[in-house]
Amino acid sequence: MSDITRVGVIGAGLMGSGIAEVSANAGLDVVVVEADSAALDAGRARIEKSMQRAVDKSKRSAEDRDAALARTAFSVDIGDCADRDVVIEAVAENESVKLDIFGKLDTIVRRRDAVLASNTSSIPIMRLAMATSRPENVVGLHFFNPVPVLKLVEIIPSLLTDSGTTERAEALAATLGKTVVRAPDRAGFVVNALLVPYLLSAIRMVEAGHSTPEDIDNGMVLGASHPMGPLRLADMIGLDTTKAVADSLYAEYREPQYAPPPLLLRMVDAGLYGKKSGRGFYDYRGE
Ligand code: CAA
Repeated sequence: MSDITRVGVIGAGLMGSGIAEVSANAGLDVVVVEADSAALDAGRARIEKSMQRAVDKSKRSAEDRDAALARTAFSVDIGDCADRDVVIEAVAENESVKLDIFGKLDTIVRRRDAVLASNTSSIPIMRLAMATSRPENVVGLHFFNPVPVLKLVEIIPSLLTDSGTTERAEALAATLGKTVVRAPDRAGFVVNALLVPYLLSAIRMVEAGHSTPEDIDNGMVLGASHPMGPLRLADMIGLDTTKAVADSLYAEYREPQYAPPPLLLRMVDAGLYGKKSGRGFYDYRGE
């Protein structure tokens, strides 16, 4: 049984809004924090849309949706995380921004044994923990997109995380209906260490003219029974995020398989981030 009832989520992008949604749906009291009101409004709209989708598909009642939304507060002040039992940081993969957030949480969150978690895909938990005076409370809690659908959470203790923190993070994941895989504090953990080189290989195939995005994706969907192909998946993850994870993997291991290919770099330079920006390997502007 988890003693966590008050959850803070920092960041209301794709991942943060999904984490907030599953937390509110599980009956937890949620505060979602964003840097500015435009980003906060976009996150709120994303959560409402996803909750409505569950109602439209008869997975939840309208009353349950309303109750979950009533449990969710939105704020542009990280100070509103002061009374939280757990705070999950889910901002973009930018280490200096994350370090700043962990430093602030350290001074803000009152409960001394509160769990300070990061949804980072690739940044060492140890580095984030050292931005606080309580590294024993810091743990990785890595969700997968779309959060309401995918059942996995990777839990990543650092060298200094105490076992009580890890156990409370596991209990929270169970409350959210997720299955836990414990992963080492190494860039990419378990899933991205396997998934990202595969996505980069598919991008290199496009770059080399080996095949088209459509044919590569059809190949993996129809020939290997993946739910979606690697180029569509990279578009869904976000090409900026895919690049950021590849950068972290390459910085950690210095192996060519992790280096982001030039085509990915240029697409990110061009603002072609995939589904969220309207264009990536596919065009989503009509959707
Ligand atoms: N929110 C809530 N529910 C959603 C959803 C969302 N954003 N997207 C899809 N769903 C639900 C649908 O309602 C539907 O539910 P039912 O079957 O009960 O009706 C179900 O998921 C399937 O959806 P669709 O029929 O619309 O579409 P689909 O069958 O093509 O599935 C998908 C879409 C769930 C995204 C599926 O293609 C999939 O699982 N793809 C792989 C995703 C993946 O690999 N994610 C990991 C990315 S890596 C990562 O996140 C980590 C990182 O650090 C980068």
